[in-house]
Amino acid sequence: MKCGASHKKWAGRCDTCGDWNSITEEAPLAAGPSGKTLGASKGRKVALGDLSEIDKPLPRMSSGIDEFDRALGGGVVPASVILVGGDPGIGKSTLLLQAAASFARSGKKAIYVSGEEAPSQIRMRAQRLGLTDAPVKLAAETNLRDIITTLENERPDIAIIDSVQTMWADNVDSAPGSVSQVRATAHELVTFAKRRGVAIVLVGHVTKEGQIAGPRVVEHMVDTVLYFEGERGHQFRILRAVKNRFGPADEIGVFEMTGEGLQQVINPSALFLSDRESQASGSVVFAGMEGTRPVLVEIQALVAQSSLGSPRRNVVGWDNSRLSMILAVLESRCGIGFGNMDVYLNIAGGMRISEPAADLAVAAALVSAREDISLQKDTVVFGEISLSGALRPIAQAENRLKEAKKLGFSAAFAPSMMKLADKSGMKVHMVEDVGSFITDCFGEIDA
Ligand code: TYD
Ligand code: MG
Repeated sequence: MKCGASHKKWAGRCDTCGDWNSITEEAPLAAGPSGKTLGASKGRKVALGDLSEIDKPLPRMSSGIDEFDRALGGGVVPASVILVGGDPGIGKSTLLLQAAASFARSGKKAIYVSGEEAPSQIRMRAQRLGLTDAPVKLAAETNLRDIITTLENERPDIAIIDSVQTMWADNVDSAPGSVSQVRATAHELVTFAKRRGVAIVLVGHVTKEGQIAGPRVVEHMVDTVLYFEGERGHQFRILRAVKNRFGPADEIGVFEMTGEGLQQVINPSALFLSDRESQASGSVVFAGMEGTRPVLVEIQALVAQSSLGSPRRNVVGWDNSRLSMILAVLESRCGIGFGNMDVYLNIAGGMRISEPAADLAVAAALVSAREDISLQKDTVVFGEISLSGALRPIAQAENRLKEAKKLGFSAAFAPSMMKLADKSGMKVHMVEDVGSFITDCFGEIDA
C-alpha cells in the first residue's frame, strides 16, 4: 500500500487512499516466542529525565549555501536526518552534490553515496559544476549493510544517500523501492544517525501524485522534510521545508538552474513578476509570504468560451479544488458565472502557492480575464475568501505592503477588518467582501 496503511488480506483497491493495485504482501513483525504481547513479558526499565536537563546543543553546520541553510532553519543540525524529496530530474542530486562539496570545503567530512549513478558520472557532473577540488568522498553502492559499515568506519559529519529508493537492505525480503525496503532503509539510517552523531540527507523521488514514492512512512521518521520543486520548463527551483523538528516549517530557499548547476537567488521577492510595463488583463500581482520572506507573485488567468460539455479547469502552481471554490463563490455570491467557459490559471515563473491569502488575487485575475479589464498596474492584492464571500484577515500584512512598496507598487487591496499599523506609504483599499472588491476594481459586471 502506497499510503502506508495495512490490510489483513490482499484487495484490488486500498480503502484508505483509494489507490488501485498498490497493496503488496509484507511479513509481519515476528511475534515473541510465546506469541504474547510485549506488555506480558518483563522489559528493561528505561531511564527517565527532566525537561530542565538540557543537553548543550551542538552548533548547526552551515552548508555555505545560504538558501539551503535557510530552508533548514539555519543550517544542518548534527545527528539529524533530512529527507529531500522532488520529481526525478528536478535537480536534487545536483543540489546535494553542491552542498556536499561546500561542506567538504569548509573542513567538514562529507560522504556522497549514489545508488543511481556510477562514480564516473558523478565526477563528470562535479566537473561541470566546478567542484572537482572539493574533498568529498564518493561511493556508488546500494547495499545498505555495506554503506552503514563504511559510515561506521569513516564517521563523516554528513552523509548523503541518493536515493532512498535505490537502497537495498539484505534482511528485508522485497525489491528496492518497495515500501518495506524504503522503510527499513530509512529506519536503519535514522538509528545510525542518532547513535553515531552523523547528519544524514536522504534523497527521495516523488510520485506523480506528489508523494515521496510509497513511503509517507519515511516522512515521520526523519527530522526534516524538504521538497525541491519547480516547473520543468522554468529555471527556478524552490526548496521548501514541509516539516522541521528544529526550525520553522514552510521556510523556502530559492535557486536558479544554470549551466553551472544551481545558483542561489538571495532576494527572490521580485523573481516571479513578469515585465510590468504593459499590464494585460487576467494578470494580478499577489503580495505573498513564503515563511518569513515576502515574495510578490504574478497570477495569470485566461477565460475562454468552451466548446466542451464540462469546461476545462486548468491550474498550474495552485490548488485545483481551491480554484473551484473561488469560482463557486464568484458565481453564487457575486453572480459572476464561469459555467460555459474554460478557465486556465497559472502562477508565473513556476512558483507554487499554498497560502489561502492568494484567494483574492485569484478572484481578481479571473474576473479581469473574463471582462478583459486590466487591474491598475501598480496594485497588489491579498486576502482570504470565505465561503460566504467575506474576506478574512491574514497574517503579516505590514511585511507584504512594505515589500510591495520597495518594488515600486503604490496601492493594495486588503481585507478590511485588519488593524493595520501601516507605515509603508502604500494606498490601501480596505474591502469587506469579494463582491464589493470586484465592484471597486472593475465596476458592475453582467452575469
Ligand atoms: P539531477 O540533479 O540529476 O536531478 P534529480 O537528482 O532530482 O533527478 O538534475 C538533472 C537535471 O538538471 C538535468 O535535466 C540537467 C539539469 N542540469 C543543469 O541544467 N545544469 C547543470 O549544471 C546540471 C548538473 C544539471
Ligand atoms: Mg538524482
